[in-house]
Amino acid sequence: MRHLITIDDLSDVEIQNLFYVTRSLKSGETEYYSRVLNDSSYLRNKILANLFYEPSTRTSSSFAAAMHRLGGNVISINDVNYSSVAKGENLQDTIRTMGYYSDIIVLRSQNEGDAKLAAEVSEVPIINAGDGKGEHPTQTLLDLYTIQEKFKTIENLTVTFVGDVVNGRTVHSLSKALKRCNLNYCETYDIDKLPPSDVYYLTRVQRERGSKGSYELTRDHVAEMPDNCIVMHPFPRNEEIPQWFDSDPRASYFRQMENGLYIRMGILVSYK
Ligand code: NCD
Repeated sequence: MRHLITIDDLSDVEIQNLFYVTRSLKSGETEYYSRVLNDSSYLRNKILANLFYEPSTRTSSSFAAAMHRLGGNVISINDVNYSSVAKGENLQDTIRTMGYYSDIIVLRSQNEGDAKLAAEVSEVPIINAGDGKGEHPTQTLLDLYTIQEKFKTIENLTVTFVGDVVNGRTVHSLSKALKRCNLNYCETYDIDKLPPSDVYYLTRVQRERGSKGSYELTRDHVAEMPDNCIVMHPFPRNEEIPQWFDSDPRASYFRQMENGLYIRMGILVSYK
């Protein structure tokens, strides 16, 4: 049994192996994985528990979709206020309970360190789907995959983070991974001074974690960005990326969403 709490739980080789599976699932490129993709009994009788103490659209739905596509089932506690958490149940008791009813638990919580705490008492693998401002490793996997899909490598690239780098867990996990991948990364506090980069990774201001302020990508900023770059965002977005940018070929956030499904299928396949 292996938990996925931080991106450092996976070695570089394991990440590349996962990308191989993901690519194969996405393209149907090998016979084996094209069969897995279409085999609605691959994870038959397996149950995934989605346990979300914070709102989610993409992470919870893509894990559920991934499980369903592989023939498994899903128990969803998407609003803990309708569970015994509302009666004061602690995280450990909830985790132990869900471990009796499922084979893997996808956990999102408000507090940094909760995923680790859960793993300490869990009888089944815990996948950290975001622990407060801590980490969000499966988002990082789909982010890295999206970068590699575009540039065919994750080395010798320049990545600029824009936005709430202090409270954004997606930035924390991704920057941890990038440090291992020999990438150059820049942080800027001035949207008007965006350095030339291969990747611009924008994030939302995390108001629920006390962050204030806002920023918005303008036509002037976009005009300064290299033609071959990609603009990423984990979503949800607020005002930072206006909708008129969506049709720009550099806008890569919808591809991230799509890749999220295949990455999460790849993760579940590797837990079989
Ligand atoms: C992110 C998260 O929950 O950390 N969303 C996601 O999973 N794609 C980003 C955010 O909420 O800002």
